[in-house]
Amino acid sequence: MTMNHDTDANVKRDDLFASPLGNVPRFVFDQAVVDVFPDMIQRSVPGYQTIINLCGELAARFVQPSSNCYDLGCSLGASSLAIRQQITQPEVTIVAVDNSSAMLERCQSVLEKQNSATAVQLLEADICDIQITNASLVVMNFSLQFIPLDKRQALLEKIYAGLKPGGCLVISEKLLFEPEALNQLLCELHHQFKSAQGYSDLEISQKRDSIENVLIPETLDSHINRLKACGFESASPWFQCFNFASLVAIKPV
Ligand SMILES: C[S@@+](CC[C@H](N)C(=O)[O-])C[C@H]1O[C@@H](n2cnc3c(N)ncnc32)[C@H](O)[C@@H]1O
Repeated sequence: MTMNHDTDANVKRDDLFASPLGNVPRFVFDQAVVDVFPDMIQRSVPGYQTIINLCGELAARFVQPSSNCYDLGCSLGASSLAIRQQITQPEVTIVAVDNSSAMLERCQSVLEKQNSATAVQLLEADICDIQITNASLVVMNFSLQFIPLDKRQALLEKIYAGLKPGGCLVISEKLLFEPEALNQLLCELHHQFKSAQGYSDLEISQKRDSIENVLIPETLDSHINRLKACGFESASPWFQCFNFASLVAIKPV
């Protein structure tokens, strides 16, 4: 099953880092990124579409009637689309949150094209500042990595508190590995993946410089330990490709 979320003619190929940039600017989710985002994420994150599709499968299992689903750092709504397509329960609202107005504007037009009885509420906000209530499913696909390290624990505690018993959290992230030689290997395999997707060495190195200190990866152990400290007794990776993984965590009933 594939669900390419944005087949618009206006989806452009990502060439943002193709020319020499001199001083490479710090990465931001602005209009230029929005315009190429579906192509950028598909060609940069191995397993991206598999992870998005799985969110739909988890929605079918975990979404409870009269509850909320949260898509935190929703970008153009790929996860919300996948979730909404699989929801059969009544009275469910998906709350899709992002702090990039450019992302949310495009997200709105993407979501409007999908026919569904499930409402989606778009919220322009910092995910650290919002309330999470009555949630049966919370998805953070490649967004926790952009949250300052010292805010991650509180964010996950808030998610745990806002989940209903039996509720599900999905976290997908770029990972850091130890020791450094292993990290280097996984980074090189990711580099090879991007080369195979058509990115030049210049594009790969300029993107890496741009996103350094913006995207802050952690080890799998750090993620699991934090989830357990928050109360998620059941937490495990379900998917990994090179230095990208997706974790599922269940709140006890
Ligand atoms: C890599 S993208 C997420 C991709 C998306 N979840 C998907 O699967 O297609 C990261 C998103 O997180 C958003 N973001 C980063 N920090 C945020 C914050 N503090 N609050 C809300 N959104 C944030 C960015 O604007 C961006 O749209």
